[in-house]
Amino acid sequence: MTIVSIWCRHKDDSIIGIGPDIPWYIPSDAKRFRNLTLNNTLVVGKNTYETLPNRTLPNRKFIVLSDVADYEVSDKQNHQVMTDINLLKNYPEDLYVSGGASIYRAFFTNPELMPDIVVDCVYQGEIREGLSGPQISVAPCVEVIQEKYFALPHKFELDNVITTVWLKKGDFVEQETVKKILNYMETEGK
Ligand SMILES: NC(=O)c1ccc[n+]([C@@H]2O[C@H](COP(=O)([O-])OP(=O)(O)OC[C@H]3O[C@@H](n4cnc5c(N)ncnc54)[C@H](OP(=O)(O)O)[C@@H]3O)[C@@H](O)[C@H]2O)c1
Repeated sequence: MTIVSIWCRHKDDSIIGIGPDIPWYIPSDAKRFRNLTLNNTLVVGKNTYETLPNRTLPNRKFIVLSDVADYEVSDKQNHQVMTDINLLKNYPEDLYVSGGASIYRAFFTNPELMPDIVVDCVYQGEIREGLSGPQISVAPCVEVIQEKYFALPHKFELDNVITTVWLKKGDFVEQETVKKILNYMETEGK
């Protein structure tokens, strides 16, 4: 099993959301997320799940983390609720950790669940104004990445988003998954 973490954060402050909203809309970023996660299993927190249109994304399976064991998902065949994140250790499929902040934090602070690969997309522009709610940031996870990961040399820039792929230091990382991600990054926007 390979665990991939993927997000788009704002430069410097590492904000990923304000209240329930992502404070930018960049079609190529949404497309990148779609293409890298298609036909895979996504792990999300309940808040993020509830921000998705109709609480779903086509052609993806979902594991929704919530303390509410009887939370009703929108698609019983492809989505499941999990109350204990530790059940994801040695999960039989690759996992794409897809937010929000509490879920990234839970993975990055658990040595047995720390992602193998991080697709770190950093938005360089201004944050949309007029949104209400707390600023939600992944700054603590970025600190972990800087200490425990190394960056692959190439940086990819498209539509004001700079993406770096990081691999966990000292561990074997499944090369097929790395190759798939890099192949997409090298051709995107062309
Ligand atoms: N920019 C990006 O790439 C990106 C990606 C995804 C999300 N976001 C943004 O992130 C924000 C949401 O983040 P968030 O941190 O507020 O919420 P979240 O992580 O999406 O969901 C939080 C909820 O998940 C459940 N949960 C969290 N940790 C758990 C654990 N260890 N075990 C069981 N359940 C657990 C709890 O649900 P219960 O309360 O039901 O127990 C908790 O209230 C939104 O603004 C969203 O738009 C941004």
